[in-house]
Amino acid sequence: MRSLGIGLVGCGVISDAYLGRAEQFPFINMIACSDINEAAAKEKADKYGLEAMTVDALLADDRIDIVLNLTTPQYHVDVNLAALNAGKHAYCEKPLGTSLAEAEKLLEATSRTGLRIGCAPDTFLGGAHQTARRIIDSGAIGDAVAGTGFMMVPGHERWHPNPDFYYQEGGGPLMDMGPYYITSMINMLGPVSSVYGTAKITRPTRTIGSGPREGETIAVDVATHISAILTFVNGASITLVTSFDVHKHDHSPIEIYGSNGSMVVADPNNFDGDILVSVGSGDWSKAEQTHLYGDGNYRVIGLADMAEAIVKDQSHRASLDLSLHVLEIMESILISADTGQAITLKHQCKQALPLQSTLPAGQLYN
Ligand SMILES: NC(=O)c1ccc[n+]([C@@H]2O[C@H](COP(=O)([O-])OP(=O)(O)OC[C@H]3O[C@@H](n4cnc5c(N)ncnc54)[C@H](O)[C@@H]3O)[C@@H](O)[C@H]2O)c1
Repeated sequence: MRSLGIGLVGCGVISDAYLGRAEQFPFINMIACSDINEAAAKEKADKYGLEAMTVDALLADDRIDIVLNLTTPQYHVDVNLAALNAGKHAYCEKPLGTSLAEAEKLLEATSRTGLRIGCAPDTFLGGAHQTARRIIDSGAIGDAVAGTGFMMVPGHERWHPNPDFYYQEGGGPLMDMGPYYITSMINMLGPVSSVYGTAKITRPTRTIGSGPREGETIAVDVATHISAILTFVNGASITLVTSFDVHKHDHSPIEIYGSNGSMVVADPNNFDGDILVSVGSGDWSKAEQTHLYGDGNYRVIGLADMAEAIVKDQSHRASLDLSLHVLEIMESILISADTGQAITLKHQCKQALPLQSTLPAGQLYN
């Protein structure tokens, strides 16, 4: 069995989640890490037994097959393109880019090089969300008619030590957290055909709540409360609200209403959580979790899925088409909010294949 060499670019907050579980997936082999901040790269290298390198050295290293791009959103497309131009595949954190126009460059680059791009989120591969997918596919709640998604929090500046990017172009609650919700919905319902949105900036500044910069004020350049209606190709109409302006609420993260019943879906920012089903108008019952990866944080599974798919010549699940579709949906919601017009999407994607519940741990394809 061939494993692919991984080189990490961007040794910040989220990198621990990737490095901590990598050994559970045999098709990836973490080799090196790099960061524009050399001390950050050295710290992760020491902690996880990797080689610290410059970005240029990592891109030139023949042992690296996939660049794992965990930089902040404004660098995602540039680092992905640098990886492809160096002859390597790239897997990056969400969102795919800060605008559709820049992310579309990746379509040309993948077809020119024959290399792959993958993109988070991969939480839809978690046990909770694969269970929800199985329930929809089984027809237990009938055809999806409508649904809701609510991601409403007071703002990430409360806990993140460097939260500037959450309030700059490419940030905001929709670009930051929308990928989890929209990707989960696409996993269950298929692609979206059109969107409508409203959006506002509620406060012009935010105050950092933790770390060395605690008390520092940062500017807000993006909408912080966004309401949208997503019309899916299958006809389902979903209301999605994302906000950095809400202190507390009592909505489920996602609910799907079908022609024969309803389903409450676990938080799509996590791999685990309960799935509740009501058939007809009956009581809620907790669905049996039928899939692995529902007992912790498996961020890295999307990268492992892409590596195994490359080795086995399959289509990977957290794909460029999926993340480009998600980015177009989010950007179109914001354009719709500016223009007052609903927007028909130009990019589509195929629903990813569900995970097979019968495969052993760490294996994602036959
Ligand atoms: N923090 C979280 O809980 C979380 C969760 C899920 C996803 N994400 C996503 O992960 C990405 C990174 O988030 P984070 O919280 O780790 O950010 P962070 O600011 O903590 O870390 C980013 C790191 O990337 C480095 N970097 C930036 N540009 C670079 C470049 N061009 N070349 C090399 N290094 C570069 C920075 O020096 C920094 O060390 C974001 O896209 C974010 O949306 C974060």
